[in-house]
Amino acid sequence: MLPFRPAPSWLADAVLYQIYPQSFADANGDGIGDFAGIAAHLDHLAWLGVDTVWINPCFASPMRDAGYDVSDYLTVAPRYGTDDDLADLVERARRHGIRVLLDLVAGHTAVEHPWFRAAADDPSDHRYVWADADPLPSGFVASPGTRPGGYLPNYFDFQPALNFGYARPDPAEPWRQPVDAEGPRANRRALRAIMDHWLTRGISGFRVDMASSLVKDDPGKKETARLWTELRGWLDEAHPDAVLLSEWGDPAVSVPAGFHGDFFLQFGGATDGGPLRSLWNTGTGTDRDEWDPVPCYFGAAGKGSFAGFAAAYAEATEAIGEPGHIALPTSNHDFSRLACAPRDAAQLPAAYAFQLTWPTLPAIHYGDEIGMRYVPGLPDVEGSVLTPRYNRAGSRTPMQWDDGPGAGFSTAPPERFYLPLDPDPARPSVAAQRRDPGSLLHTVRELIRLRRTTPDLGSGSPVRVHNDGYPLVYSRGEHHLVVVNPSDRTATAPLPDPAHARATRLIGEGVTVGPDGISAGPFGYAVLRH
Ligand code: NOJ
Ligand code: CA
Repeated sequence: MLPFRPAPSWLADAVLYQIYPQSFADANGDGIGDFAGIAAHLDHLAWLGVDTVWINPCFASPMRDAGYDVSDYLTVAPRYGTDDDLADLVERARRHGIRVLLDLVAGHTAVEHPWFRAAADDPSDHRYVWADADPLPSGFVASPGTRPGGYLPNYFDFQPALNFGYARPDPAEPWRQPVDAEGPRANRRALRAIMDHWLTRGISGFRVDMASSLVKDDPGKKETARLWTELRGWLDEAHPDAVLLSEWGDPAVSVPAGFHGDFFLQFGGATDGGPLRSLWNTGTGTDRDEWDPVPCYFGAAGKGSFAGFAAAYAEATEAIGEPGHIALPTSNHDFSRLACAPRDAAQLPAAYAFQLTWPTLPAIHYGDEIGMRYVPGLPDVEGSVLTPRYNRAGSRTPMQWDDGPGAGFSTAPPERFYLPLDPDPARPSVAAQRRDPGSLLHTVRELIRLRRTTPDLGSGSPVRVHNDGYPLVYSRGEHHLVVVNPSDRTATAPLPDPAHARATRLIGEGVTVGPDGISAGPFGYAVLRH
């Protein structure tokens, strides 16, 4: 028997779209995106065919980590509008057939949160991981209040870890509390109350930030998994149509723990995000010294390997079984966009042909549908720069709606924009690509339409890889064959089945299929029916 209810059926067909609210559309001219701006562009999302958006944290915050430092989980940040504006957005989205997920920052708050302010002055408060020790243990940050000792941060120093306990005691670290101590229990109740608050206001679930980080010193994440299992049990009863998608990067662990789905990410799992990076990472955008500079599969040189991703996908699906999902993002606010040098616009249709026909749930980061690029060299805005080679701002620039001076993002003077626009005079825009039937935007839309009208191409039908070199060749279900050549030279593969020679092309460019085999020109792709 499954430990959980099956995921709500809508999730299996979902095409996700990520909105970074400060960068999407500014309706009131202050240079920062807002809820009214998102509401004004729901037509674009409905036209594109996405049906589930997730919005990065939009709650009250000092914004030192762009909203991932929450000071009040139950009130929205004024720069985005009011709680009523959010409710209005959710309702309008619903009328467009679009569900809204919010971002639950489960592992930490801002130091400005009233819970933390109280804890910093009260040695009997256990909402945070606090060591009343002198000298401070390594990794702890000195108390800003009257309380002695210090607290454990979860990410930046100004993001104190909420106390969900430790999986095991350590006599040398007397501050460790068990997972069922009073502070951890209060925090679990709080998570439930926060979720309930927003779910009763019409949202359809959450993307959960750093979902694996809750219980400390937790080998195999067993106690963290128990915590999510408990919350999923509650969710199944209280909000059975809602979903939880984790930022964990290890579906084999997070989905059995209770998440309806998890993202393949640039980190997480046995190889620290190896599977996703082996597809996309060009090494020129957000990059870490400890990451091996392996050529990515979606690279013009044709030097990458698909095998690592395919193996990780097979292993994860095996572990999660029927009811769970893996989401595959084009990029997100933390790592490079698909259009990241040297990968350019010409290479993107092939990448999308893969991303939108693989059985993972596709997630499109705003702007990737027109091939907005990762913009290098931007200033540190609200914690975007992690290291000199890891600047997240490049994936957070204002959405390019039209070809006007503010790109249709905002009427504010450019110096007041949340982040600078891409300065490239040839930067793509939604308006220009809408007018051009051959544009990436139209290709992405057509691929989404095909996916949503063709059960073989959805998340529920089997995939079989026939060729994992260049070109990539795989079957979906009974009747569909996908050919993708991310390289800049013609690549050939044998025909998996003689019946494929008579296949009809549903979408594509540069691919021929005949009795002699498959030939895919530079950056060619095709979805075929046989
Ligand atoms: C992951 C989020 O995606 C990232 O943007 C944030 O800085 C950290 N978690 C801390 O919350
Ligand atoms: Ca605004």
